[in-house]
Amino acid sequence: MDDRVTGNHSEEDRLTAAAARGGFMQVQSEFPRYSPVSSSPSFTLKVIGHMIMSLEPKGEEQEKFRSNFKIISSSFASLPFKVPGTAFHRGIQARDRMYSMLDNVISKRREGQGFQNDFLESLIIKHSKAADGEADKDKLTDKQMKDNVLTLLVAGHDTTTAALTWLMKFLGENPQVLQRLREEHMEIQAKGKGGANLSWSEVISETLRRATILPWFSRKAAQDFEIDGYKIEKGWSVNLDVVSIHHDPEVFPQPEVFYPSRFDEPLKPFSFLGFGSGPRMCPGINLAKLEISIFIRHLACRYKWTPLERDDSVQHTLVRIAKNKYPVLVEPL
Ligand code: HEM
Repeated sequence: MDDRVTGNHSEEDRLTAAAARGGFMQVQSEFPRYSPVSSSPSFTLKVIGHMIMSLEPKGEEQEKFRSNFKIISSSFASLPFKVPGTAFHRGIQARDRMYSMLDNVISKRREGQGFQNDFLESLIIKHSKAADGEADKDKLTDKQMKDNVLTLLVAGHDTTTAALTWLMKFLGENPQVLQRLREEHMEIQAKGKGGANLSWSEVISETLRRATILPWFSRKAAQDFEIDGYKIEKGWSVNLDVVSIHHDPEVFPQPEVFYPSRFDEPLKPFSFLGFGSGPRMCPGINLAKLEISIFIRHLACRYKWTPLERDDSVQHTLVRIAKNKYPVLVEPL
């Protein structure tokens, strides 16, 4: 991962600290009845807020941040009418409040207060446009810096929340996989290797394949081409139906079955697009994998859970989530 995000800390130290200080502890205190979709957002938001701008996981600032963020998230699927009373308008207002919070943080940092070795600090140091502006064509304006921070917060939040929820659901439904995962993690713990080997990434890949959290994304055709008799012209937008790609029985036999070991063998290129592919591939892949791995580790080694409702429906929003939010009863092992 880029050291702009991690500073001098190792990714894992930093993330574990963030999770322990604000996220996972709170998740635990919400047990035994726990809905990953409603509780994980606070965990994932705290982690990403801490990673990007060292936001304290508790307190007034965190609360303001969280409530504005919730409004922004719920405005994504709204019609773009900037009319008071609409979800879109509320989203724009919340975004502007976030911008002024960021303005405060940026000006404090520039005054030398509250230095932090985080992503925001590196943007401020490396990319701030000088007052004369002209000489720094490649540097970012404050508005662009704030946009970058908000983009990472948005892109890294709902996606990871959805992944954690699906992971709990698939593991809950596949006790033999959970058992193997548990044994593997317990063994690592017993050997005292700490967090050195948060492995079994096949479980993460299989979760992202089955759930396909981002069901589609697009590319612009760089030249005319033909595929299966269909002519695509240069400049057209091509939307990828990732759900179908992830459920192609020729590549993934019995595609509805949750079977992490299928990732032991190399796959046909471009058949797994959980984090996309190519130059626009998800830049948060390492952070997401690490966050999920730490979550799995705590969950598998310390808790068992039982679903409180049976419902396999999917909510087809921008990010695919379980419609019933997968409420579970959690108990210590
Ligand atoms: C399990 C969690 C995540 C999943 C499943 C996921 C998935 C994806 C996918 C499928 C794309 C589109 C890639 C493409 O077009 O080829 C994407 C883009 C992106 N992701 Fe993630 N992501 C996750 C977590 C994160 C995190 C934690 C961050 C930030 C720290 C992040 C930041 C971004 C950004 C900024 C883009 C746009 C990249 C671009 O257009 O150049 N994502 N993600």
